[in-house]
Amino acid sequence: MESESAKAAGRARISRLPTEALTPAQVSAIRALLWAAFGDDEDEAMTEEDWQHALGGSHFLLELDGEVVAHASVVGRELDVDGRPLRTGYVEAVATAIAHQGRGFGSQLMAEVDAYIRERFELGALGTGRHSFYERLGWLTWQGPSWVRAPEGPRRTPDEDGYILVLPTPASPELDLATPISCDWRPGDVW
Ligand SMILES: CC(C)(COP(=O)(O)OP(=O)(O)OC[C@H]1O[C@@H](n2cnc3c(N)ncnc32)[C@H](O)[C@@H]1OP(=O)(O)O)[C@@H](O)C(=O)NCCC(=O)NCCS
Repeated sequence: MESESAKAAGRARISRLPTEALTPAQVSAIRALLWAAFGDDEDEAMTEEDWQHALGGSHFLLELDGEVVAHASVVGRELDVDGRPLRTGYVEAVATAIAHQGRGFGSQLMAEVDAYIRERFELGALGTGRHSFYERLGWLTWQGPSWVRAPEGPRRTPDEDGYILVLPTPASPELDLATPISCDWRPGDVW
């Protein structure tokens, strides 16, 4: 017999929309979902800067009976791996509504995100403490030192070491996970 989760997964509809195509209602629903899912803990809580980081690329929405229950976005960034610039699909604002977590929706959505990144970018990347969630889907934890290319010059980001995950794509060069990795500059959390 089909489980409740399997039935719910069957009713799930995933869409991909550029930021400018989101309706005001969708923006409100996504923001409410993100702020609730990331909670109030100071280190985890969603900020307006985090929201800005999620804009300007493609939003993946998983809707269940018309309600947004999971979100992820992919924005284009330039990461340098061992000094080589790579056109990177950077994943931001991944969350499932609290009431719907643990039912496979996040994984279902990330499978679409991964397929999109594999088709269009030289690398996928994201920052997380939820390693197992992404590693099951083929993401790899970067082992080398992390840097940001700040306006005043390259700067180490030691607090991010071990929390950056990458997704190789067919366009990726051979990756040595122990080499340095750097991201382009942005206000707020750079990774
Ligand atoms: C991380 C997050 C997006 C996962 O979303 P989700 O919809 O719960 O994801 P899934 O249900 O696909 O997987 C969650 C867990 O449930 C398990 N699971 C998946 N399908 C399942 C099912 N049908 N029945 C029971 N468990 C299931 C998975 O094994 C997974 O375990 P893991 O986290 O140890 O890998 C969600 O917990 C969340 O929004 N967290 C708060 C925000 C956050 O931390 N975002 C990520 C930051 S980078």
